[in-house]
Amino acid sequence: MADMGTLKLLVLPGDGVGVEVIPAAIKVLQVCAAKYSLSLEIHQELVGGISIKTHGVGLRDSVLEQARSSDAVLLGCVGGPEWEEEAPARRPERALLTLRKELGLFANLRPIYAWPALEDSSPLKRSVVKGTDILFFRELTGGIYFAQPKHRDKDRAVDTELYTRQEIDRIARLAFQAAKRRRKKVTSVDKSNILETSKLWRDVVTEVHQEYTDVVLEHRLVDSFAMQLMTTPSTFDVVLTNNMFGDILTDEAAVIAGSLGMLPSASLGSRSALYEPVHGTAPDIAGRGIANPIASIACITMLFEYTLNNTTAASGIQRAIGAALDHGHRTADLHPTGRPASTEEMTEAILQSLRSQN
Ligand code: IPM
Ligand code: MG
Repeated sequence: MADMGTLKLLVLPGDGVGVEVIPAAIKVLQVCAAKYSLSLEIHQELVGGISIKTHGVGLRDSVLEQARSSDAVLLGCVGGPEWEEEAPARRPERALLTLRKELGLFANLRPIYAWPALEDSSPLKRSVVKGTDILFFRELTGGIYFAQPKHRDKDRAVDTELYTRQEIDRIARLAFQAAKRRRKKVTSVDKSNILETSKLWRDVVTEVHQEYTDVVLEHRLVDSFAMQLMTTPSTFDVVLTNNMFGDILTDEAAVIAGSLGMLPSASLGSRSALYEPVHGTAPDIAGRGIANPIASIACITMLFEYTLNNTTAASGIQRAIGAALDHGHRTADLHPTGRPASTEEMTEAILQSLRSQN
């Protein structure tokens, strides 16, 4: 096996269940690193609520600098009930938004996969979820999350939706390139019957498509797409959408996978990459050792795929997750019929499958 060199990884477990699921992901990374002769240089830091408590800010400059000089960042999740009353600018979530923006991570990839063993964990019918394999491309550094003006008076509040041609063009390209390697279909989701930004979105995506004619492009309005995502999810391949719609639609799509605890994500830019589970801090179950580690472990799959370009390692982790599920291991969020697996038990089951691969 060729030496894969060194991976400089910044680990930011964050708040809530982040501190429980990220160590599980690191264990999987360590096993794979040993197998593929990859040396790891891991630094761990605080981010989000815990950093506000300890250092007074959600993201210290030094941590941002470390993120910049790392090959990748592995992040858990941030936030919690303690900060619910705070203004958006003072909340732990701001740390995450700053990190995404400062690192230029404009493309957020969120795969939605209906694991065969979990087809009955979804509240949707087995026949509906069966075969679903979607890759969402959510634009991550533009739109209503970031554009100015954005302010709040006592009786008036403003957020601005703004997109430029360049912002749409660069993510559309990545979506078409991914579709070429998959089932060659892109569904672009917008609200072009109402929003100017969406009209531009549709125009630019249509133009970029001229360079990818072997990929089928279809446009959908977000409201009707939200419904189709629940009725015919298996008909979609790559779904391309803006920051706000992508945030909402990917939580909705979690229903297909059976639980938000199953969804990993990769945020990519021109240089850095950040991997984080889609789920939040889950304050209701935090600290009990029962959170589903699969979303975070699947982030390691994505790390091998996108940062390390090692698809063999990536598919090995996917198979190990699948095997643990096939053997009946289920954390509480997956509605097991028997005793639910703890975070540690689920992790151990996946590690065991991984170690038994040759
Ligand atoms: C997500 C989250 C974040 C977002 C929050 C925590 C800022 O919901 O990653 O989907 O809205 O982007
Ligand atoms: Mg979200």
